[in-house]
Amino acid sequence: PETITVQELAARMSMRAVDLVKELMKEGQMVTANATLDADTAQLVAEDLGHSVKRVSEADVEEGLEGAADKPEDMKPRPPVVTIMGHVDHGKTSLLDAMRQTDIVAGEAGGITQHIGAYQVDLGDNRKITFLDTPGHAAFTQMRSRGAQVTDIIILVVAADDSIMPQTEEAISHAKAAGVPIIVAINKVDKPDADPNKVRTDLLQHEIQVESMGGDVQDVEVSALKKMNLDALQDAILLQAELLELKANPDRPAEGAVVEARLDKGRGAVATFLVERGTLHRGDILVVGSEWGKVRAMHDDKGQQVKEAGPAYPVEVLGLDGVPEPGDKFNVVESEARAREVAEFRKRQRRDKAAAQTSGTSLEQMMAQL
Ligand code: GTP
Ligand code: MG
Repeated sequence: PETITVQELAARMSMRAVDLVKELMKEGQMVTANATLDADTAQLVAEDLGHSVKRVSEADVEEGLEGAADKPEDMKPRPPVVTIMGHVDHGKTSLLDAMRQTDIVAGEAGGITQHIGAYQVDLGDNRKITFLDTPGHAAFTQMRSRGAQVTDIIILVVAADDSIMPQTEEAISHAKAAGVPIIVAINKVDKPDADPNKVRTDLLQHEIQVESMGGDVQDVEVSALKKMNLDALQDAILLQAELLELKANPDRPAEGAVVEARLDKGRGAVATFLVERGTLHRGDILVVGSEWGKVRAMHDDKGQQVKEAGPAYPVEVLGLDGVPEPGDKFNVVESEARAREVAEFRKRQRRDKAAAQTSGTSLEQMMAQL
């Protein structure tokens, strides 16, 4: 049922909560500022006090934000988005760095890379892979809890001299919970005490059956240090991507998720977006979580300014009015007024939720806008 706290109702009428409590007492309602009122009562009281009431539900404000479903004929292949997970020191960062060096474009540009939380490796011949950089398990869980399912494939890095460890198990359960296919990268095979077969048998205990054990999970032996067999790992990713038939409509207003965001002293809010569908353009107006903004500038992971970003393309965006949270969704909208309306609505919602949590009442969502 729709409810609102006395406090929140007072705030929306620009009056003090104590004064509203007094008004309610006059009506015979003995309540405190933390009490919740049902929508009808709140409306009556507000109207008695001379306010006109417009009830707004979440469905109304967010209506049409996502846009229409895409037609099958508008769907075009897009690069896979890959997250690397694994136990501490098993070589996640080394592997990412090694694969990044295989980018033909970065090579040409002199390889000046920039940390934006995600990057794309261009292998030529229209083969591209997007990596989410060092998201860590906590960030992955946070993004998932916000409904952002941006990863298509998980690379499970297992050091061949160490085999399955606690965070390997954690990564396996993340992948399973998210329903994301795994590719096993058996790393550090250059080490004298490497035992790749032990990794394969140990994986069986976690219901991961690699191909050489008769299963359908791809496994590749690599050495991030010696840059051995990286092309085989990339081929495995591209093969898995092909099986997933990853497609998106690039010709529509952009929609996607925040990978990373921070406040920069000189540049204001800086956020890395991963476009999920549509194309993001410079000048686009968007709402992202409970923030909004106008895309003032975009950079890719090579630090180059870009004017547009299509599906699975990670970009750093400037021009937001505040710092969004990782996992927040962004949507391009038609006007600043609309962007502001949605952002403000969500800000109120988040505030209400926080208030309800602290006061222990179950406040479902905001109901009245006065
Ligand atoms: P955290 O971020 O701390 O969880 O570690 P990580 O998984 O990112 O591992 P990282 O890439 O930092 O590598 C850990 C150590 O293993 C470093 O000393 C690397 O040089 C070494 N290492 C990584 N890959 C290989 C490899 O293929 N062979 C050998 N011999 N050493 C490796
Ligand atoms: Mg690391």
